[in-house]
Amino acid sequence: MSGLSGKKRVYLETYGCQMNFSDSEIVASVMTDHGFTVTERQEEADVVFLNTCSIRDHAEQRVLNRLRELQHLRKKRPGMIIGVLGCMAERLKTALLEESELGMRIDMVVGPDAYRQLPSLMLDAEQGQAAINVLLSADETYADISPVRYGGNGVSAFISIMRGCENYCAYCVVPFTRGQERSRDPLSILGEVQQLVDAGYREVTLLGQNVNSYRWKDPDTLAETTFSDLLAEVAATDPLLRLRFATSHPKDIPDRLLHTMAAHQNICRAIHLPVQSGSSRVLARMNRKYSREDYLERVAAIRAILPGCAISTDIITGFCGETEEDHRETLSLMEEVGFDYAYMFKYSERPGTLAAKKFRDDVPDGVKSRRLTEVIELQQSLSMASNRRDLHSVQEVLVEGYSRRSEKQMMGRSSHNKVVVFPSGDHQSGDYVQVRITGCSSATLKGEAI
Ligand code: 5AD
Ligand code: SF4
Repeated sequence: MSGLSGKKRVYLETYGCQMNFSDSEIVASVMTDHGFTVTERQEEADVVFLNTCSIRDHAEQRVLNRLRELQHLRKKRPGMIIGVLGCMAERLKTALLEESELGMRIDMVVGPDAYRQLPSLMLDAEQGQAAINVLLSADETYADISPVRYGGNGVSAFISIMRGCENYCAYCVVPFTRGQERSRDPLSILGEVQQLVDAGYREVTLLGQNVNSYRWKDPDTLAETTFSDLLAEVAATDPLLRLRFATSHPKDIPDRLLHTMAAHQNICRAIHLPVQSGSSRVLARMNRKYSREDYLERVAAIRAILPGCAISTDIITGFCGETEEDHRETLSLMEEVGFDYAYMFKYSERPGTLAAKKFRDDVPDGVKSRRLTEVIELQQSLSMASNRRDLHSVQEVLVEGYSRRSEKQMMGRSSHNKVVVFPSGDHQSGDYVQVRITGCSSATLKGEAI
């Protein structure tokens, strides 16, 4: 049952957003505190946890397929425990324990606010009892748990600063799987930042489902810390530490936040600002709480206060009731903004959401796909144009490691969050290197250190 060291081994696999990757580091911390070691080899695992995502049907299908594969692995390792963590655990709850309906056995189902209970749930599972905890919490932020950074590059780390979401975008399952918004004590965040700096990290990304609605009220003094305040404090920790944050909602990106960014050179010039659609009519149906004009006004503010700042986005095609005219408005907004990068998706109806209750999923799948292709093709040319604008410029690149292709090349990111590849020379992970950009594709910049 146990490995050679006598310790049991947990294998963790993460799906979905950065928040989930950050949560897996909490899970690794809870498990190692209880005598487990994290393994990168599933064949030697005593426990396999999948930290799952429910955002689109496709994400859930991938996990279900993977769970089926794991049943075969268990035949070779009979005592192995299989657990589903994260958003699917929260959404599907006891349905994941119905062996006859699911056609496979899952031993543990643990939602995103119940990771402290993992060790006791493990004991139940080891005794053959169904182990489930999907309670959501109004205040769990795991503030006192030091994440175990496994599998990272030692340069760049995530820090989760708030959890949950109460925006109720009509298409989105997150408010149901992640629960109420709650922010983490700034002192614990600053402590974690300092630990990372001491360990040699050079970049942190502050994470939240809705990061810019971060707000902390000190229980004693009642003094408030806003997201802008927090950003300024983290930025002041060390001028060599780069700072990023994700994901921002366009309704919560005031000028004050942009001025805070402008005042700190180490806050990266990149904002991820999901627009979802370029049509005000669709945005209203999506319950996004801003119009096309409001969004463009925020983009104008970013351009005015942070000239050259990269702007990336998320787009959904084929939301309920989306017409060709609405779709053309999305394409025209993309051109007007000239996004540097985008994540693009076909609408996938999620059970229990406002859209599933109120609207018909009436755009045929073929139309959704065709619109998605058009959006992707346009974005490819916009990304290419954005990268071409960087030709001949000098970018400060934080080196993350060797490039995927060869050790003769290193890769890192520019302040704009673009991947930059250049000859290795004597450079090392964690170095800041000034790179002159000499070539590009739509996905990557190439250059030479100067
Ligand atoms: N269908 C398709 N895409 C979705 N997203 C969120 N919910 C859905 C859904 N039901 C996209 C949004 C969001 C990103 C994380 O995923 O664009 O910003
Ligand atoms: Fe997926 Fe959303 Fe859950 Fe992240 S919060 S894992 S994107 S469903």
